[in-house]
Amino acid sequence: MKSRLFLTIIVLQTALTGFGAIRSTPAEMPSLVPKPVSMKVLQGNFILKDSCLLLIPSGNAILKETGTLLAMQLKQAGGPGLRIMDADKSAKKLKGIILSVKEGSFPEEGYELKVTTENILITGGGPAGVFYGVQTLLQLLPPEIYSKEKTSPSVKWEVPCILVRDHPRYPYRGMHLDVSRHFFSVEFVKHYIDLIAMYKMNTFHWHLTDDNGWRIEIKKYPKLTSIGAWRVDRESLPWIERPPQKPEEKATYGGYYTQNEIREIVNYAKERFVTIIPEIEMPAHCLEVLAAYPQLSCTGGTFSVAPGSYWPNVEIFCAGNDSTFQFIEDVLSEVIDLFPSKYIHIGGDEADKTRWSACPKCQARMKAEGLKDEKELQSYFIKRIEKFLISKNKRLIGWDEILEGGLAPEATVMSWRGIEGGISAARQGHDVIMTPTGFCYFDYYQADPKFEPKAIGGSTTLKKVYSYDPTPGELTASQAKYILGAQGNLWTEYIPTNSQAEYMILPRMIALAEVVWTPKKGRNWNDFRHRLNGQFKKLDWMKAKYSKGSFKAGVQTFFDQKAGVLKTAISSEQPDIQIRYSLDGNDPTTKSPVYDKPFDVNRNCYLKAGLYVDDTLKESLTERSIIIHKATGKRLTYLKPYSYRYTGGGGEALVDGLRGVVNFHEGNWQGFLGNDMVVVIDMGKMTPIRSISLSFLHSPDSWIFMPDSVVYSLSSNGKKYHSINEERNDMPETLKGPSIKAFSETFPDTPARFIKIRAKNIGICPPWHEGKGEPCWLFADEIVVY
Ligand code: ACM
Ligand code: ZN
Repeated sequence: MKSRLFLTIIVLQTALTGFGAIRSTPAEMPSLVPKPVSMKVLQGNFILKDSCLLLIPSGNAILKETGTLLAMQLKQAGGPGLRIMDADKSAKKLKGIILSVKEGSFPEEGYELKVTTENILITGGGPAGVFYGVQTLLQLLPPEIYSKEKTSPSVKWEVPCILVRDHPRYPYRGMHLDVSRHFFSVEFVKHYIDLIAMYKMNTFHWHLTDDNGWRIEIKKYPKLTSIGAWRVDRESLPWIERPPQKPEEKATYGGYYTQNEIREIVNYAKERFVTIIPEIEMPAHCLEVLAAYPQLSCTGGTFSVAPGSYWPNVEIFCAGNDSTFQFIEDVLSEVIDLFPSKYIHIGGDEADKTRWSACPKCQARMKAEGLKDEKELQSYFIKRIEKFLISKNKRLIGWDEILEGGLAPEATVMSWRGIEGGISAARQGHDVIMTPTGFCYFDYYQADPKFEPKAIGGSTTLKKVYSYDPTPGELTASQAKYILGAQGNLWTEYIPTNSQAEYMILPRMIALAEVVWTPKKGRNWNDFRHRLNGQFKKLDWMKAKYSKGSFKAGVQTFFDQKAGVLKTAISSEQPDIQIRYSLDGNDPTTKSPVYDKPFDVNRNCYLKAGLYVDDTLKESLTERSIIIHKATGKRLTYLKPYSYRYTGGGGEALVDGLRGVVNFHEGNWQGFLGNDMVVVIDMGKMTPIRSISLSFLHSPDSWIFMPDSVVYSLSSNGKKYHSINEERNDMPETLKGPSIKAFSETFPDTPARFIKIRAKNIGICPPWHEGKGEPCWLFADEIVVY
């Protein structure tokens, strides 16, 4: 998945939300995540005692199941036993936990939880709402409730009196797990579903098939599991350096789920209000199928299941062969019988068209169907499968590549290569699930790679996940309705164990759970980070492995227009760890100031900041040079937009005094994808100007290139400009990088009010580059004016 790797690299780490010290949450406020829509803590506690009644409306099997799960969880953790009773008329007088559904009173997944000293009343808009009310109740109990073993008899099983009214923001709240790159046991998959349910998410996207192993028993095609589920064991080698299986070698590494196990898991998920969407990959990422049934390829083979990833990844189902469609329909028929989900995911990503271009059968198909290129052949493929799914009363989901060549009529799009696919699909009236790499890929690093276990690349910090808004601002209100929600993805190339899988999703999935549940205006990073500490206690009792997040200081500046001064803010993901900093270029010492609130910067300086525990630096320092110049804090107008992926801090990033650093994941670079950078600085009044300079980043591995040229021009009125000079790039395009180059122009003092700078993006990656023809990045930092 090399191209996914590329996307990993184009992510900005330090999307900082909020400045200053983190305020503390009042001790009496429960640490609920996701944060409910409304919550009022009342006086007193409900004390849960042995034989406490749990009242269920008689005959309501679904609520009884939910109640039973609650009782079992209490029992497992050594808590009081509950007595489950039918709630008949006399029950009105009884005290205990009372579950009920009041249709129409709340949304289907909404609920009210009312805890008094006498009763715990959970009323759902539907059974799912009751289940979520129970999840909230569990979070209000002592964290020991999440223990899988009996805890101390001295635990006080108390719940604070409270009134919660709650419902989700989005109907689709998903987590994905790739079980092809590494196989995960039935037990672990159930645990994964437990975590999904605990955080009120409702969908498990199960990536069951890929080049590295087929994981679902299909009765009609036994070789899918006897051959396709097993690969040669190269686990001791790095993922991208694993040679294919040799003929004399045995394929011993892998596994699959029997149909009985699948049914068991589907049922387990259903009891927890989690829908499982199975994914069967096509037309590409199917090498494991071709290893078992090579006649479904364009070339006839031979193939073996891949023990790692290769790029380019060219093997693909032959689209000219009717037996391919017969095979897929047979497989999907068995899949449909196993999964009650309305949706079936058919993959559709990263389909290299090399084989189709050279295949007589595929070319004949294109001719017969009047398809003008291989993209349209892909569209034909997906539309044909959609027709089949619709005939079975199912709906198709695919990765955003299914937009290419024309969307299938009723397809739902999963937008992963950024948000553009999602925007385009919503504008065409198609449902969308957002899962853009930069916010939702939990196989990316969550902190400085130097201090983290090996991951695929990129950077998706907890704070970045929390900052995500699944509904793009570009959509109108009626288009925005097509955004069903968002999903976190866990690709497992670099994740061979259960504990590593937990570490990568925790706590990022908890942040995403709040993103998709809590109203946007109810979200607050500092508050969340405090509540997360409460969640860590629960995870500790579960013995789940989780990441503590990034220990890197983030630096941002902003110009206080009123005071006419540049302010510097330092932040971190850690609410309780001291930040120390220096401004003279030396490492901070015990005598250096402790950061407490944004401070003024009046002259050029070199900031170093770090997190300290017992006077010892955690991880590494953040270093930034801050420059004060004539354009600092002046008004900027963008004539071409910068990308939402690399804001560099936003609309003032090019005059905020901060320089970018070679590791662009640390932020401060502003990225322009495919287009030029054209900005105008308004100096506010006629000002003598004698030099303009700015730097760019060159990092071809990350598709970031120097501009072709930079043109500077000045104006007194913002209408008529006179060009000072055009400076051409002299850095060789093929230089490996990453490196930073400054462009600058010095000239005799010239009065001007407006400065226009145009940096010409080379536009697309050059022919020698792996991304040839694709849009490339231009990364700019501070425009320094004297
Ligand atoms: C993907 O990450 N290839 C959907
Ligand atoms: Zn073919």
